[in-house]
Amino acid sequence: MSLIEKVREQIKNDFSGEGTGHDWWHIHRVVNNARSIQEVEGGDEELIELAALLHDVGDHKFHKEKEAQEKLITQLMTDLGAESQKIKVVLGVVKQVSFKGGEVNREVDSLEAKVVQDADRLDALGAIGIARAFAYGGSKNRMIYHPDEAPKEFQSFEEYKNDKGHTINHFYEKLLKLKDMMQTETGRKMAEQRHQFMEAYLEQFYAEWSGTA
Ligand code: ADP
Ligand code: NI
Repeated sequence: MSLIEKVREQIKNDFSGEGTGHDWWHIHRVVNNARSIQEVEGGDEELIELAALLHDVGDHKFHKEKEAQEKLITQLMTDLGAESQKIKVVLGVVKQVSFKGGEVNREVDSLEAKVVQDADRLDALGAIGIARAFAYGGSKNRMIYHPDEAPKEFQSFEEYKNDKGHTINHFYEKLLKLKDMMQTETGRKMAEQRHQFMEAYLEQFYAEWSGTA
């Protein structure tokens, strides 16, 4: 088995049945998005695939320690027989990938990281993005919408995390902003199409809410 195949099997095993929107199928879709972007934009195929497969390992939402990502990825790849130089390169890419709370726009300089970051952001957009948002909101016991609560801007990640608001708000605080944060032209085009779908969805949502559609 190639390293990619081994990592894929391991990640599939580790992430199956995860219920917060970071399950194996999220990873699977990110890999597919990344491949589509790579076909046009280029970048090292193996590195992109490995980084896409590993991008949610040691996520800060599930691990308290800052170094969890580095530790867990190093361990996983070492156990699967990867060379230390390769692990270092993959880690370099994965670290740049995440859109995490406060550190929204940190520098992303490698093409591979841009491709995987775009691929991950795309999965928060469009039909899939809508499904994930409501699944996540439901898991936090959030309402789908509350007409008296206007869309909010949060001052800190803590404030955002603890907010009991409604899921429609999440479209304004994050989802509708993502298309302008894309790092590649191909990712931007894909995001644009998904963005328009979400705009249309919201329009229909409000029309149905008021009983006019
Ligand atoms: P990432 O996949 O980049 O780590 P998150 O963990 O923030 O992103 O989000 C995972 C999924 O859950 C995404 O689809 C995101 O839109 C959704 N999500 C995150 N926070 C909220 C929220 N407050 N309300 C609704 N959906 C959310
Ligand atoms: Ni992800």
